[in-house]
Amino acid sequence: MLRSKNNKVMRILVSRVKWPTFTFAANEGASHRFPFPGFRIGLFERAHDEGADGCAGALGAVAQAVVEGFRDIDGGSDGHDMIMARMTSLGPGRRLRRSGRRYDRCLELEMARVLDGAAIAAQIKQEVAEEVRLLGAQGIRPGLAAVLVGHVPASEIYVRSKVQTCADLGIYSDLITPPDTVTTEEMFDLVTSLNDRDDVDGILIQLPLPAQVDTKRLLDAVLPAKDVDGFHPINAGRLMAGRPALEPCTPAGVIEILKRSGIPIAGQHAVVVGRSDIVGKPAAMLLLHQNATVTICHSKTRDLGAITRQADILVAAIGRAGFITEEMVKPGATVIDVGMNRITDRTEFDQLFAGNAKREAAFLKRGSVVVGDVHPKAFEVAGAYTPVPGGVGPLTIAMLMANTVRAAKMRRGL
Ligand code: GUN
Repeated sequence: MLRSKNNKVMRILVSRVKWPTFTFAANEGASHRFPFPGFRIGLFERAHDEGADGCAGALGAVAQAVVEGFRDIDGGSDGHDMIMARMTSLGPGRRLRRSGRRYDRCLELEMARVLDGAAIAAQIKQEVAEEVRLLGAQGIRPGLAAVLVGHVPASEIYVRSKVQTCADLGIYSDLITPPDTVTTEEMFDLVTSLNDRDDVDGILIQLPLPAQVDTKRLLDAVLPAKDVDGFHPINAGRLMAGRPALEPCTPAGVIEILKRSGIPIAGQHAVVVGRSDIVGKPAAMLLLHQNATVTICHSKTRDLGAITRQADILVAAIGRAGFITEEMVKPGATVIDVGMNRITDRTEFDQLFAGNAKREAAFLKRGSVVVGDVHPKAFEVAGAYTPVPGGVGPLTIAMLMANTVRAAKMRRGL
Protein backbone atom coordinates (compact mmCIF):
# COMPACT_ATOMS: atom_id res chain seq x y z
CA MET A 1 0.00 0.00 0.00
CA LEU A 2 1.08 3.51 -0.61
CA ARG A 3 1.56 5.36 2.61
CA SER A 4 2.00 9.03 3.13
CA LYS A 5 4.56 10.53 5.47
CA ASN A 6 2.03 10.42 8.29
CA ASN A 7 1.49 6.77 7.43
CA LYS A 8 -2.07 6.93 6.21
CA VAL A 9 -3.13 4.56 3.50
CA MET A 10 -3.43 6.23 0.15
CA ARG A 11 -5.74 5.12 -2.53
CA ILE A 12 -6.06 5.68 -6.18
CA LEU A 13 -9.27 7.01 -7.53
CA VAL A 14 -10.14 5.97 -11.02
CA SER A 15 -12.68 7.47 -13.31
CA ARG A 16 -13.48 7.36 -16.97
CA VAL A 17 -14.91 10.83 -16.76
CA LYS A 18 -12.57 13.60 -17.70
CA TRP A 19 -12.26 15.56 -14.53
CA PRO A 20 -12.21 19.23 -15.36
CA THR A 21 -8.94 20.91 -14.54
CA PHE A 22 -8.83 19.07 -11.24
CA THR A 23 -7.38 15.79 -12.26
CA PHE A 24 -3.97 14.21 -12.33
CA ALA A 25 -3.69 12.56 -15.66
CA ALA A 26 -1.25 9.76 -16.16
CA ASN A 27 0.45 10.73 -19.35
CA GLU A 28 1.75 8.34 -21.97
CA GLY A 29 4.77 7.20 -20.01
CA ALA A 30 2.87 6.34 -16.89
CA SER A 31 -0.27 4.86 -18.34
CA HIS A 32 1.41 1.65 -19.42
CA ARG A 33 2.11 0.88 -15.78
CA PHE A 34 -1.45 1.45 -14.83
CA PRO A 35 -3.68 -1.59 -15.04
CA PHE A 36 -6.71 0.18 -16.47
CA PRO A 37 -5.83 1.62 -19.87
CA GLY A 38 -7.92 4.65 -20.71
CA PHE A 39 -8.62 5.53 -17.12
CA ARG A 40 -7.37 8.60 -15.47
CA ILE A 41 -5.97 8.48 -12.02
CA GLY A 42 -5.76 10.73 -9.07
CA LEU A 43 -3.98 10.10 -5.82
CA PHE A 44 -5.48 11.04 -2.57
CA GLU A 45 -5.33 10.22 1.03
CA ARG A 46 -8.04 8.38 2.79
CA ALA A 47 -10.04 9.73 5.66
CA HIS A 48 -8.75 13.19 6.06
CA ASP A 49 -10.85 16.32 6.17
CA GLU A 50 -10.82 19.29 3.90
CA GLY A 51 -8.78 21.46 6.20
CA ALA A 52 -5.19 22.49 5.87
CA ASP A 53 -4.07 19.09 7.08
CA GLY A 54 -6.00 17.46 4.27
CA CYS A 55 -4.34 19.60 1.67
CA ALA A 56 -0.95 18.87 3.12
CA GLY A 57 -1.80 15.19 3.04
CA ALA A 58 -2.66 15.32 -0.62
CA LEU A 59 0.55 17.12 -1.39
CA GLY A 60 2.35 14.41 0.53
CA ALA A 61 0.56 11.85 -1.56
CA VAL A 62 1.80 13.42 -4.74
CA ALA A 63 5.35 13.59 -3.47
CA GLN A 64 5.16 9.96 -2.42
CA ALA A 65 3.76 8.96 -5.78
CA VAL A 66 6.64 10.62 -7.53
CA VAL A 67 9.13 8.90 -5.27
CA GLU A 68 7.49 5.58 -5.83
CA GLY A 69 7.74 5.50 -9.54
CA PHE A 70 4.70 7.31 -10.88
CA ARG A 71 7.16 9.74 -12.31
CA ASP A 72 5.09 10.68 -15.27
CA ILE A 73 2.12 11.89 -13.36
CA ASP A 74 1.27 15.41 -14.24
CA GLY A 75 1.08 16.79 -10.77
CA GLY A 76 -0.40 20.09 -11.80
CA SER A 77 -0.18 23.14 -9.63
CA ASP A 78 -0.62 23.42 -5.91
CA GLY A 79 -4.17 24.44 -6.67
CA HIS A 80 -4.79 21.07 -8.26
CA ASP A 81 -3.36 19.33 -5.26
CA MET A 82 -5.75 21.16 -3.01
CA ILE A 83 -8.68 20.23 -5.19
CA MET A 84 -7.55 16.63 -4.94
CA ALA A 85 -7.69 16.94 -1.21
CA ARG A 86 -11.27 18.06 -1.44
CA MET A 87 -12.14 15.26 -3.76
CA THR A 88 -11.15 12.72 -1.22
CA SER A 89 -14.09 13.61 0.93
CA LEU A 90 -16.48 12.60 -1.83
CA GLY A 91 -17.50 9.01 -2.16
CA PRO A 92 -17.43 7.15 -5.44
CA GLY A 93 -20.20 8.24 -7.77
CA ARG A 94 -20.90 11.43 -5.89
CA ARG A 95 -20.76 14.89 -7.40
CA LEU A 96 -17.69 17.02 -7.52
CA ARG A 97 -18.62 20.09 -5.58
CA ARG A 98 -16.86 22.56 -7.83
CA SER A 99 -17.90 21.31 -11.22
CA GLY A 100 -21.15 19.63 -10.37
CA ARG A 101 -20.01 16.74 -12.58
CA ARG A 102 -20.45 13.18 -11.62
CA TYR A 103 -17.43 11.04 -11.78
CA ASP A 104 -19.04 7.78 -12.63
CA ARG A 105 -17.66 4.27 -12.31
CA CYS A 106 -15.13 5.36 -9.79
CA LEU A 107 -13.00 2.68 -8.27
CA GLU A 108 -10.90 2.81 -5.21
CA LEU A 109 -7.79 0.74 -5.43
CA GLU A 110 -5.07 0.05 -3.04
CA MET A 111 -2.20 0.01 -5.40
CA ALA A 112 0.84 -2.06 -4.53
CA ARG A 113 4.08 -0.18 -4.64
CA VAL A 114 6.44 -1.38 -7.35
CA LEU A 115 9.99 -1.75 -6.08
CA ASP A 116 12.07 -0.59 -9.00
CA GLY A 117 15.09 -2.90 -9.04
CA ALA A 118 16.52 -1.29 -12.15
CA ALA A 119 16.64 2.12 -10.45
CA ILE A 120 18.20 0.67 -7.28
CA ALA A 121 20.75 -1.27 -9.33
CA ALA A 122 21.63 1.92 -11.23
CA GLN A 123 22.21 3.70 -7.94
CA ILE A 124 24.48 0.91 -6.66
CA LYS A 125 26.42 0.83 -9.93
CA GLN A 126 26.95 4.57 -9.68
CA GLU A 127 28.38 4.10 -6.18
CA VAL A 128 30.60 1.26 -7.40
CA ALA A 129 31.85 3.37 -10.32
CA GLU A 130 32.81 6.09 -7.85
CA GLU A 131 34.75 3.55 -5.75
CA VAL A 132 36.48 2.27 -8.87
CA ARG A 133 37.46 5.84 -9.69
CA LEU A 134 38.91 6.35 -6.20
CA LEU A 135 40.82 3.06 -6.40
CA GLY A 136 42.12 4.11 -9.82
CA ALA A 137 43.65 7.17 -8.20
CA GLN A 138 45.66 4.73 -6.06
CA GLY A 139 46.73 2.74 -9.12
CA ILE A 140 44.29 -0.12 -8.45
CA ARG A 141 41.94 -1.46 -11.12
CA PRO A 142 39.53 -4.14 -9.88
CA GLY A 143 39.32 -7.10 -12.27
CA LEU A 144 36.76 -9.83 -12.91
CA ALA A 145 37.36 -13.10 -14.77
CA ALA A 146 34.12 -14.44 -16.22
CA VAL A 147 34.11 -18.08 -17.29
CA LEU A 148 31.38 -19.01 -19.74
CA VAL A 149 31.36 -22.65 -20.83
CA GLY A 150 29.68 -23.70 -24.08
CA HIS A 151 26.62 -22.02 -25.56
CA VAL A 152 23.77 -21.90 -23.06
CA PRO A 153 21.75 -18.97 -24.45
CA ALA A 154 20.61 -17.60 -21.08
CA SER A 155 24.16 -17.84 -19.68
CA GLU A 156 25.54 -16.08 -22.74
CA ILE A 157 23.14 -13.18 -22.22
CA TYR A 158 23.92 -12.94 -18.48
CA VAL A 159 27.69 -13.08 -18.93
CA ARG A 160 27.72 -10.55 -21.78
CA SER A 161 25.75 -8.24 -19.56
CA LYS A 162 28.21 -8.78 -16.67
CA VAL A 163 31.19 -8.05 -18.91
CA GLN A 164 29.51 -4.97 -20.37
CA THR A 165 28.70 -3.67 -16.88
CA CYS A 166 32.36 -4.09 -15.89
CA ALA A 167 33.29 -1.89 -18.86
CA ASP A 168 30.63 0.67 -17.91
CA LEU A 169 31.98 0.95 -14.35
CA GLY A 170 35.68 0.94 -15.18
CA ILE A 171 36.30 -2.62 -13.93
CA TYR A 172 38.73 -4.75 -15.93
CA SER A 173 37.21 -7.99 -17.21
CA ASP A 174 38.48 -11.08 -18.94
CA LEU A 175 35.91 -13.33 -20.61
CA ILE A 176 37.09 -16.93 -20.90
CA THR A 177 34.99 -19.29 -23.01
CA PRO A 178 35.96 -22.97 -22.78
CA PRO A 179 34.07 -25.33 -25.14
CA ASP A 180 31.18 -27.41 -23.78
CA THR A 181 33.42 -30.50 -24.08
CA VAL A 182 35.72 -29.14 -21.35
CA THR A 183 36.71 -31.58 -18.59
CA THR A 184 36.76 -31.03 -14.84
CA GLU A 185 40.57 -31.22 -14.92
CA GLU A 186 40.83 -28.53 -17.59
CA MET A 187 38.43 -26.31 -15.67
CA PHE A 188 40.36 -26.98 -12.47
CA ASP A 189 43.60 -25.86 -14.18
CA LEU A 190 41.85 -22.74 -15.46
CA VAL A 191 40.55 -21.84 -11.99
CA THR A 192 44.01 -22.41 -10.50
CA SER A 193 45.55 -20.04 -13.05
CA LEU A 194 42.90 -17.40 -12.29
CA ASN A 195 43.54 -17.79 -8.56
CA ASP A 196 47.20 -16.97 -9.26
CA ARG A 197 46.61 -13.95 -11.49
CA ASP A 198 47.17 -10.62 -9.80
CA ASP A 199 44.96 -8.69 -12.24
CA VAL A 200 41.97 -10.87 -11.29
CA ASP A 201 40.16 -9.96 -8.07
CA GLY A 202 36.97 -11.85 -8.75
CA ILE A 203 36.25 -15.18 -10.45
CA LEU A 204 32.81 -15.89 -11.84
CA ILE A 205 32.03 -19.35 -13.19
CA GLN A 206 28.66 -19.04 -14.86
CA LEU A 207 26.32 -21.89 -13.94
CA PRO A 208 25.03 -24.31 -15.03
CA LEU A 209 28.09 -26.20 -16.24
CA PRO A 210 27.92 -29.19 -18.62
CA ALA A 211 27.02 -32.48 -16.92
CA GLN A 212 30.54 -33.95 -17.24
CA VAL A 213 32.02 -31.16 -15.12
CA ASP A 214 32.08 -31.57 -11.34
CA THR A 215 30.59 -28.19 -10.42
CA LYS A 216 31.09 -28.48 -6.65
CA ARG A 217 34.74 -29.40 -6.99
CA LEU A 218 35.30 -26.35 -9.19
CA LEU A 219 33.45 -23.92 -6.97
CA ASP A 220 35.49 -25.24 -4.05
CA ALA A 221 38.68 -24.60 -6.06
CA VAL A 222 38.00 -20.84 -6.36
CA LEU A 223 40.01 -18.87 -3.80
CA PRO A 224 37.47 -17.68 -1.19
CA ALA A 225 38.99 -14.18 -1.45
CA LYS A 226 38.12 -14.12 -5.17
CA ASP A 227 34.75 -15.85 -4.82
CA VAL A 228 32.60 -12.91 -5.93
CA ASP A 229 29.57 -15.20 -6.34
CA GLY A 230 29.78 -16.09 -2.64
CA PHE A 231 29.36 -19.79 -3.50
CA HIS A 232 32.45 -21.17 -1.73
CA PRO A 233 31.69 -23.11 1.50
CA ILE A 234 34.13 -20.82 3.35
CA ASN A 235 32.07 -17.79 2.39
CA ALA A 236 28.81 -19.64 3.11
CA GLY A 237 30.20 -20.53 6.55
CA ARG A 238 31.35 -16.98 7.20
CA LEU A 239 27.92 -15.71 6.23
CA MET A 240 26.29 -18.19 8.60
CA ALA A 241 28.64 -17.16 11.41
CA GLY A 242 27.98 -13.47 10.83
CA ARG A 243 31.60 -12.82 9.83
CA PRO A 244 32.63 -10.58 6.92
CA ALA A 245 32.10 -12.56 3.73
CA LEU A 246 31.58 -12.18 0.02
CA GLU A 247 27.82 -12.67 -0.10
CA PRO A 248 25.87 -14.32 -2.92
CA CYS A 249 24.78 -11.56 -5.26
CA THR A 250 21.05 -12.20 -5.65
CA PRO A 251 20.26 -12.49 -1.91
CA ALA A 252 22.49 -9.48 -1.19
CA GLY A 253 20.47 -7.63 -3.84
CA VAL A 254 17.22 -8.58 -2.11
CA ILE A 255 18.45 -6.93 1.08
CA GLU A 256 19.52 -3.83 -0.84
CA ILE A 257 16.07 -3.53 -2.41
CA LEU A 258 14.38 -3.75 0.98
CA LYS A 259 16.75 -1.35 2.69
CA ARG A 260 16.88 1.23 -0.07
CA SER A 261 13.09 1.15 -0.39
CA GLY A 262 12.73 1.89 3.31
CA ILE A 263 10.97 -1.39 4.04
CA PRO A 264 11.56 -2.40 7.64
CA ILE A 265 13.16 -5.82 8.15
CA ALA A 266 13.88 -6.02 11.88
CA GLY A 267 11.11 -7.79 13.76
CA GLN A 268 9.25 -8.65 10.54
CA HIS A 269 8.30 -12.19 9.71
CA ALA A 270 10.24 -13.04 6.55
CA VAL A 271 9.21 -16.23 4.78
CA VAL A 272 11.62 -17.55 2.17
CA VAL A 273 10.16 -20.11 -0.21
CA GLY A 274 13.03 -22.12 -1.68
CA ARG A 275 16.16 -23.53 -0.05
CA SER A 276 18.79 -23.40 -2.76
CA ASP A 277 22.41 -22.77 -1.78
CA ILE A 278 22.51 -19.84 -4.19
CA VAL A 279 19.37 -17.94 -3.15
CA GLY A 280 17.05 -19.44 -0.53
CA LYS A 281 19.53 -20.34 2.23
CA PRO A 282 21.71 -17.22 1.99
CA ALA A 283 18.63 -14.97 1.66
CA ALA A 284 17.26 -16.45 4.88
CA MET A 285 20.60 -15.90 6.62
CA LEU A 286 20.90 -12.30 5.46
CA LEU A 287 17.34 -11.56 6.58
CA LEU A 288 18.14 -13.13 9.93
CA HIS A 289 21.20 -10.90 10.26
CA GLN A 290 18.85 -7.96 9.70
CA ASN A 291 16.84 -9.22 12.69
CA ALA A 292 13.86 -10.59 10.79
CA THR A 293 12.09 -13.65 12.15
CA VAL A 294 12.77 -16.09 9.34
CA THR A 295 10.95 -19.16 8.11
CA ILE A 296 12.31 -21.24 5.23
CA CYS A 297 9.76 -23.24 3.23
CA HIS A 298 10.40 -25.80 0.53
CA SER A 299 8.83 -28.53 -1.56
CA LYS A 300 8.08 -30.73 1.47
CA THR A 301 6.52 -27.95 3.56
CA ARG A 302 3.01 -28.84 4.68
CA ASP A 303 0.24 -26.25 4.16
CA LEU A 304 2.59 -23.78 2.52
CA GLY A 305 -0.10 -21.12 2.14
CA ALA A 306 -0.74 -21.05 5.89
CA ILE A 307 2.90 -20.08 6.38
CA THR A 308 3.31 -17.69 3.46
CA ARG A 309 0.17 -15.86 4.61
CA GLN A 310 2.02 -14.98 7.81
CA ALA A 311 4.81 -13.28 5.90
CA ASP A 312 5.40 -9.57 6.20
CA ILE A 313 8.19 -10.13 3.71
CA LEU A 314 7.73 -13.00 1.29
CA VAL A 315 10.71 -14.07 -0.80
CA ALA A 316 9.81 -16.42 -3.64
CA ALA A 317 12.79 -18.38 -4.97
CA ILE A 318 11.34 -21.67 -6.13
CA GLY A 319 11.88 -21.56 -9.87
CA ARG A 320 8.25 -22.31 -10.79
CA ALA A 321 6.26 -19.84 -12.86
CA GLY A 322 3.46 -18.12 -10.93
CA PHE A 323 3.70 -20.61 -8.05
CA ILE A 324 2.78 -18.08 -5.35
CA THR A 325 -0.90 -17.31 -5.81
CA GLU A 326 -2.97 -14.50 -4.35
CA GLU A 327 -4.41 -16.62 -1.52
CA MET A 328 -0.84 -17.23 -0.33
CA VAL A 329 -0.04 -13.57 0.26
CA LYS A 330 -0.97 -11.54 3.31
CA PRO A 331 -2.62 -8.27 2.18
CA GLY A 332 -0.08 -5.49 2.34
CA ALA A 333 2.96 -7.81 2.49
CA THR A 334 6.19 -7.05 0.65
CA VAL A 335 6.68 -9.68 -2.02
CA ILE A 336 10.15 -10.24 -3.46
CA ASP A 337 10.06 -12.35 -6.59
CA VAL A 338 13.42 -13.93 -7.37
CA GLY A 339 12.02 -16.21 -10.09
CA MET A 340 12.91 -15.92 -13.77
CA ASN A 341 10.92 -18.48 -15.73
CA ARG A 342 10.48 -18.40 -19.47
CA ILE A 343 7.10 -19.71 -20.53
CA THR A 344 6.26 -20.76 -24.06
CA ASP A 345 3.06 -22.73 -23.46
CA ARG A 346 -0.15 -20.92 -24.44
CA THR A 347 -2.27 -22.51 -21.70
CA GLU A 348 0.25 -21.56 -19.07
CA PHE A 349 0.43 -18.06 -20.51
CA ASP A 350 -3.35 -17.68 -20.28
CA GLN A 351 -3.36 -18.87 -16.67
CA LEU A 352 -0.93 -16.11 -15.81
CA PHE A 353 -1.64 -13.22 -18.12
CA ALA A 354 -5.18 -13.55 -19.57
CA GLY A 355 -6.40 -10.04 -20.41
CA ASN A 356 -2.94 -8.44 -20.18
CA ALA A 357 -2.61 -6.75 -23.58
CA LYS A 358 1.04 -5.85 -23.20
CA ARG A 359 2.14 -9.35 -22.27
CA GLU A 360 -0.10 -10.80 -24.96
CA ALA A 361 1.62 -8.68 -27.59
CA ALA A 362 5.05 -9.73 -26.26
CA PHE A 363 4.05 -13.40 -26.25
CA LEU A 364 2.74 -13.24 -29.82
CA LYS A 365 5.87 -11.45 -31.00
CA ARG A 366 8.51 -13.61 -29.32
CA GLY A 367 6.67 -16.84 -28.57
CA SER A 368 7.62 -16.58 -24.90
CA VAL A 369 7.52 -14.29 -21.88
CA VAL A 370 9.50 -14.22 -18.68
CA VAL A 371 7.53 -14.59 -15.49
CA GLY A 372 8.57 -14.82 -11.87
CA ASP A 373 7.58 -17.30 -9.18
CA VAL A 374 4.70 -15.09 -8.14
CA HIS A 375 1.39 -15.06 -10.00
CA PRO A 376 0.61 -11.55 -11.32
CA LYS A 377 -2.70 -11.57 -9.39
CA ALA A 378 -0.80 -12.12 -6.14
CA PHE A 379 1.01 -8.79 -6.63
CA GLU A 380 -2.35 -7.05 -6.40
CA VAL A 381 -2.68 -8.25 -2.81
CA ALA A 382 0.82 -7.09 -1.89
CA GLY A 383 1.72 -3.76 -0.38
CA ALA A 384 4.96 -3.67 -2.37
CA TYR A 385 6.57 -6.05 -4.80
CA THR A 386 9.46 -6.55 -7.18
CA PRO A 387 8.27 -7.04 -10.76
CA VAL A 388 9.71 -9.58 -13.18
CA PRO A 389 11.54 -8.45 -15.17
CA GLY A 390 12.99 -5.30 -13.59
CA GLY A 391 12.95 -6.28 -9.93
CA VAL A 392 15.60 -8.50 -8.36
CA GLY A 393 17.30 -9.37 -11.68
CA PRO A 394 19.22 -6.11 -12.18
CA LEU A 395 20.53 -6.31 -8.61
CA THR A 396 22.41 -9.54 -9.26
CA ILE A 397 24.81 -7.83 -11.65
CA ALA A 398 25.06 -4.69 -9.53
CA MET A 399 26.02 -6.77 -6.47
CA LEU A 400 28.54 -8.77 -8.52
CA MET A 401 30.23 -5.48 -9.39
CA ALA A 402 30.11 -4.40 -5.74
CA ASN A 403 31.62 -7.75 -4.68
CA THR A 404 34.41 -7.43 -7.24
CA VAL A 405 35.41 -4.04 -5.87
CA ARG A 406 35.10 -5.38 -2.33
CA ALA A 407 37.34 -8.35 -3.20
CA ALA A 408 39.87 -5.98 -4.80
CA LYS A 409 39.99 -3.93 -1.61
CA MET A 410 40.06 -6.90 0.78
CA ARG A 411 42.91 -8.55 -1.12
CA ARG A 412 44.94 -5.41 -0.63
CA GLY A 413 43.99 -5.01 3.01
CA LEU A 414 41.97 -1.85 2.26
N1 GUN B 1 23.68 -18.83 -13.01
C1 GUN B 1 22.52 -18.24 -12.69
N2 GUN B 1 22.71 -17.28 -11.76
C2 GUN B 1 24.02 -17.26 -11.50
C3 GUN B 1 24.82 -16.47 -10.63
O1 GUN B 1 24.36 -15.60 -9.90
N3 GUN B 1 26.15 -16.76 -10.65
C4 GUN B 1 26.67 -17.72 -11.44
N4 GUN B 1 27.97 -17.93 -11.37
N5 GUN B 1 25.95 -18.47 -12.25
C5 GUN B 1 24.62 -18.22 -12.28
